[in-house]
Amino acid sequence: MPEPRKKITLPYLFDKVARGEPITWLTCYDFPTAYLQEQAGIEMILVGDSLGMTMLGYESTLPVTMEDMIRHSQAVRRGAPTAFLVGDMPYMTYQPSVETAIRNAGRFMAEASCDAIKLEGGTAMADRIKGIVDSGIPAIGHLGLTPQSVSALGGFKVQGKDAQGAQKIIDDALSLEEAGAFSVLLEAVPAPIAKMVTERLTVPTIGIGAGVHCDAQVLVVHDMLGLFDRFTPKFAKKYVNLSELILKALDTYREEVIKGEFPTDQHSFHIDEKELTKIKSS
Ligand code: KIV
Repeated sequence: MPEPRKKITLPYLFDKVARGEPITWLTCYDFPTAYLQEQAGIEMILVGDSLGMTMLGYESTLPVTMEDMIRHSQAVRRGAPTAFLVGDMPYMTYQPSVETAIRNAGRFMAEASCDAIKLEGGTAMADRIKGIVDSGIPAIGHLGLTPQSVSALGGFKVQGKDAQGAQKIIDDALSLEEAGAFSVLLEAVPAPIAKMVTERLTVPTIGIGAGVHCDAQVLVVHDMLGLFDRFTPKFAKKYVNLSELILKALDTYREEVIKGEFPTDQHSFHIDEKELTKIKSS
């Protein structure tokens, strides 16, 4: 029996980055997947507000509520007790004010045993990050393609493709670091720009569609398992096509039930012959 893994902590993550070893991160929304990620040794888990699209079937992340996030974060924590668990702050749970941000960040820690929170935005959200960090809650900033601003960004598009846009990402990253973010996540940003940000910051960068030079990599678990084909971004490598496997299993089940091939004796319960005779003759 292998030794159970020790709890992943901030010092563990910083030590890894200092040794130049990439950190592994995936999103997760439910107990069984969290249990598998824990066994696979995934170090960080993000309960992303992407659950609005992957689990709840919305067209965007905007309808996701704190209640959705807390419920799913609790389930993930039960499945992955030692992972470094990050709760993603949903739309309008931090934008209105610093106080709103602190209160909702606190809920992730108190109600779902998260280790940190993540929120979207740069310089404009730096005071929210500062308030949260000053309250003793580790925080990650999310830059580049920020899905909560999909309307303002004009769609799910790569960000920082011209010098002005790239400079804004660099400036925003520096603001977040100064505000106390312990890490900055870069989504859909050209790899050379992510490399520049990684070199300029003293805190680790996490990339999703941001190239190999980030200190950590994250993917949406439904994308990498082939469970979400409504929209697959270029950066989402499919490691397995679970949709195909699940469909095959569902088809086989349906056919076996129709043909009377399931359940067999092996999947049925039995009763003592004497008891059966008694009930038959009563
Ligand atoms: O919500 C999410 O899953 C995210 C990832 C894209 C990083 O923010």
